[in-house]
Amino acid sequence: MIFELPKWYDLHVHFRQGDSMADYIQDHLNMGCCGALAMPNTKPPVSHVHGKNTEEYWTVESYLKDMESAGSKAFDDIIAPLYLTNATTKDMIIEGTKSGILRACKYYPPHGTTNSEHGAGLDTYINNGVFAAMSDAGIVLNIHGEEHGLSGEEYFGEQSNAEDSFYKNHMPQLVEKFPNLKIVCEHITTKTAVDFVKNSGNNIAATITPQHLLYTVADLLQGLKYHLYCLPLVKFEKDRTALLEAAKSGNVKFFAGTDSAPHTTKATACGCAAGCYTGGIAPQLYADAFNLNEDNFDEFKKFLCLNGPQFYGIPVSNKTFTLTKKPSQPSVASGAIPLHIGLGQKNLAWTLTL
Ligand code: NCD
Ligand code: ZN
Repeated sequence: MIFELPKWYDLHVHFRQGDSMADYIQDHLNMGCCGALAMPNTKPPVSHVHGKNTEEYWTVESYLKDMESAGSKAFDDIIAPLYLTNATTKDMIIEGTKSGILRACKYYPPHGTTNSEHGAGLDTYINNGVFAAMSDAGIVLNIHGEEHGLSGEEYFGEQSNAEDSFYKNHMPQLVEKFPNLKIVCEHITTKTAVDFVKNSGNNIAATITPQHLLYTVADLLQGLKYHLYCLPLVKFEKDRTALLEAAKSGNVKFFAGTDSAPHTTKATACGCAAGCYTGGIAPQLYADAFNLNEDNFDEFKKFLCLNGPQFYGIPVSNKTFTLTKKPSQPSVASGAIPLHIGLGQKNLAWTLTL
């Protein structure tokens, strides 16, 4: 069985910075990507819109140029969201929209994930006019939906966890205050988040990663497979089932965003960096999660190739790639360890051909 698909947009990826950026972009090109939304949690963060980079911050304008030098010209389109911090102003949003450089902004829970220490709480942007300006300008808010500052049972417990709590205690109020704000709930991992997105208006959508469709916390813990350690954490079977149902439903609100996040040092002497690398292998993993076949091909195509560009108002690619149900051992251009190798698997179940 050969499935032909339009080239797709990875609407949540980390291309990082420096020399390795070119390899990460190449890995994405090699897996049929025609574009991406490249996350701004660089060091320093991409937290201003116009002008040159400084020691304290980078700008969306310069980051786009850096990615261009590293090969992103081969994409049809690339979105670089602004990292929201205490220094973000509504004027940045207004001017960034006017120049066309600003298309999205990323909310990071302070200290909640890799390089998220520059983020401020939601109240900051609710009260300083930033969310209002985004809503007026039609700028997309990419949300890392985890409540920050929790620990122990509240962070990850039997009854609740940081994501659960965020979608129950914060998102409803946010949406009520800004009913027209376009929001993408990034890398959702829980049934709570799935239900929230399903029951919200058409301005609310979500990305889902391959790892959250394929695995649960049991897969992470059995043998301590730390290459599966990413944030938000993989959850329970009821959550995975809800994510899979949402992705396979064809509902326009759910689309691919891998959260591919390379780390040169994953495990350290006293902890582990959060992030799974799925550059070069994501469509194959998504196909595996769907158990792609003739009956669900239309829904797969919607999830991987159509729904995302539609939400962002980007044209669907007229170039194609294929997936075949045949084992493959793709090599990645970058030195990052792809997720399946990190999990001790040799082959992928699917072969991707450009
Ligand atoms: C991401 C990273 O490494 O930049 N890590 C992760 O676990 N997903 C940051 C993020 O998206 O949370
Ligand atoms: Zn991410």
